[in-house]
Amino acid sequence: MLDDLPRPFFALAPMDDVTDTVFRQVVADVAPPDVFFTEFVNVDGLMSAGRPNLLKKLRFAEKEGRVVAQLWGLDPDNFRAVAGQIASGELARELGLPPGVNFAGVDLNMGCPAKSEVRNGACAALIRRESWPLAGAIIQATQDGLNGRLPLSVKTRVGFSAVDMEWFDFLLGFDLDMLTVHGRTRKQMSKVPADWELIGQVRTKRDALGVKTLIVGNGDVRDREHGEALAKQYQLDGIMIGRGIFTNPLCFLRDGPLEWSQWSKKQRLALYKKQVTLFKDTWQNGERPIHTLNKFCKVYVSDFDGAKVLREELMVAPSVDEVLNLLHNQNKI
Ligand SMILES: Cc1cc2nc3c(=O)[nH]c(=O)nc-3n(C[C@H](O)[C@H](O)[C@H](O)COP(=O)(O)O)c2cc1C
Repeated sequence: MLDDLPRPFFALAPMDDVTDTVFRQVVADVAPPDVFFTEFVNVDGLMSAGRPNLLKKLRFAEKEGRVVAQLWGLDPDNFRAVAGQIASGELARELGLPPGVNFAGVDLNMGCPAKSEVRNGACAALIRRESWPLAGAIIQATQDGLNGRLPLSVKTRVGFSAVDMEWFDFLLGFDLDMLTVHGRTRKQMSKVPADWELIGQVRTKRDALGVKTLIVGNGDVRDREHGEALAKQYQLDGIMIGRGIFTNPLCFLRDGPLEWSQWSKKQRLALYKKQVTLFKDTWQNGERPIHTLNKFCKVYVSDFDGAKVLREELMVAPSVDEVLNLLHNQNKI
């Protein structure tokens, strides 16, 4: 399912509370990447009574195209079970998707640096050498669950406290389908520029080992043009863009007819309105609190006269209907 991707292919990074099905559908409409990832979802929670509350993070729409489910957690048995449910299509049916529509793969989060996850020994904590046996057990259990029916990828960083390139020798030993390398250590969080030389070294290791794993570079990529240059320089299979989408929702555009900087106020507000309308239709009964929309306000409501004042109004609006009202009134002007 990843074999027919273009080279380099482009992915929108998983971003918790950002890249939900609503935002992905907006991006899919205006400038789609080749692959989307869901927000990270905890398998231990999915296999507990809390499941209904977590399923929203896995929701997707057929029109999004390729969507990879990103999982995290601690118990290999839960990874096995959830991977099985994804590969069989059972989970997609549970989400209400029609037969024949499924996730394009499963990704394991071994890079999230957040204290709460790391304290528990999950995500980026798996990079620490004492955690390699658990990381390996998680990968193997997920492979068991998938049983060759869907591709498996891992998204990780270049080390925990310090760079550790042997982590990649370890990971490449599992014959993964894809490996996304964020060119920073856990300790560096997002505070220093990503090190693309290290990402290139992972690709060199992959070649030396002669394994099929596709290598995807991640960290500070602005847009397609920037990503294409990096993919060429380091001979990477794919490029993942995260925060670049906040400054340019058209960052995946190929020779776009109109660059984001040239979009008028009317066009920007119309796109935000589309997202807020979809948000209202998708998330019922407070499934997503209204404040999660505020992250997007600056993306669309910027670079025109009066943007700051309008943002301030939108961000304190008490309801989604009021946000829509404000946007509607603006676009009449
Ligand atoms: C708000 C936010 C949420 C994120 N959530 C996730 C996540 O759920 N899973 C994950 O693997 N990475 C997550 N990340 C990390 C991004 O996927 C990406 O690796 C990181 O931002 C570096 O790429 P960039 O410089 O293109 O943004 C998140 C980043 C941000 C800014």
